[in-house]
Amino acid sequence: LKCVKQHLIPFRLSLEKLKEVSTRLRKDMIRGLGKHTHHRAAVKMLPTFVRATPDGTEKGDFLALDLGGTNFRVLHVRVMEEEQKMVKMDSQLCAIPQEIMLGTGEQLFDHIAACLSEFLDSQNLKGQTLPMGFTFSFPCEQKEIDKSILIRWTKGFNCSGVEGEDVVKLLKEAIHRRGDYDISSVAMVNDTVGTMMSCGYRDQTCEIGMIIGTGTNACYMEEMKNVKRVEGEDGQMCINTEWGGFGDDGSLEDILTEFDKVVDRTSINPGVHTFEKMISGMYLGEIVRLVLMKLTEKKLLFKGEVSEALRTKETFETKFISMIEDGLENAKKILTELGLTWDLVDARVVRLVCETISSRSARLCAAALATIVDRIRANRGLPHLKTTVGVDGTVYKKHPKMQLSMHFLAPDCKIKFLVSEDGSGKGAAMVTAVAQRLALQSRLLEESDGEEDEEEKVRS
Ligand code: GLC
Repeated sequence: LKCVKQHLIPFRLSLEKLKEVSTRLRKDMIRGLGKHTHHRAAVKMLPTFVRATPDGTEKGDFLALDLGGTNFRVLHVRVMEEEQKMVKMDSQLCAIPQEIMLGTGEQLFDHIAACLSEFLDSQNLKGQTLPMGFTFSFPCEQKEIDKSILIRWTKGFNCSGVEGEDVVKLLKEAIHRRGDYDISSVAMVNDTVGTMMSCGYRDQTCEIGMIIGTGTNACYMEEMKNVKRVEGEDGQMCINTEWGGFGDDGSLEDILTEFDKVVDRTSINPGVHTFEKMISGMYLGEIVRLVLMKLTEKKLLFKGEVSEALRTKETFETKFISMIEDGLENAKKILTELGLTWDLVDARVVRLVCETISSRSARLCAAALATIVDRIRANRGLPHLKTTVGVDGTVYKKHPKMQLSMHFLAPDCKIKFLVSEDGSGKGAAMVTAVAQRLALQSRLLEESDGEEDEEEKVRS
């Protein structure tokens, strides 16, 4: 066991190291926000054009689209002011087969438009044009709430002809190619923003959204005066940090292990999203598999014999990690299914490896979240901050232990975690609802300004 632990040392990050990582991220965030530094920044800090969180007066019916994992979803959402509730009226799921994830953009958007058409038919909604929110969980350069240019694909997607294009335009073109229905306005939303907004409806102190699922990322409310790339000094804007890209300029070299490097090299996007590859569900299982292979080679596991399954890329699923952490019985079952011959010591070692990898993931995320929370505190000049983080993603839900590390990493902040249910879908509706509320408020304000002017005239 001592020899095994030796091999796991590079994954064990001390509190000191995590604080260093947090400081590096703080600097990268400033670089990402800067007018002249953002285009070279690894952490992109993308303006989202979401200027407010919910205040509880939002209402109406909305359509929400959600693309980001292996499925595409369409939802019909009703926001009910009286009951302060957001209700999913109905929804439909369409799988995105791998050949579409790696095919052409046209195929992808035709697939989405077809799925949407089917849903509208089944709900009898084709005649109406409900306002629509589109949760598109990839880094986008937003020009406005309804203009969103894909910077690059992340996670498992790599469709041709989409990077550098406006996603709203591609969706509308696909719908026009069909010609059987039309849509009105579309608000583009990252899943982190959707999560923050849907949690924000329940708890109005929620100003951070975080995802630890297939990928990882976070957004938060930043002061407009610090968002140098968007005009205006007043108020706030939600920033999509795209923290998954942290380290893409080599800044995390000292904590990358040989296994992280293999995961990156053999991925569909080498060099992209270094931080994400140490943390999120798409990669954790593969890291564990590579460690197990190495320990077996060193004759520290399975009497030095690997199975065909263990030798094959991505056969060790990320969900196995939490299952194995839950109990040795699960470990035994999974090892048998993977065609391995094991003894009790092997099962224990495998569990130790799983715990090591998932706790590194949790600690790194905690360090990054601490950076954001502390930035909000400093922005407001407060000695202490109490705030709420909306969270989603299976990796978080299965491993909530990152909450423990937060206490040490952001000692001046008290953080509540609110797990979002269906956040990225419902949140898109909420973004649309808030945008409508703001538009209405500013119209009313203009009208009342107009009336005052009239009064002035009459008086003079
Ligand atoms: C990836 C995407 C990001 C998304 C995250 C979580 O990091 O680039 O936009 O929020 O995955 O789904």
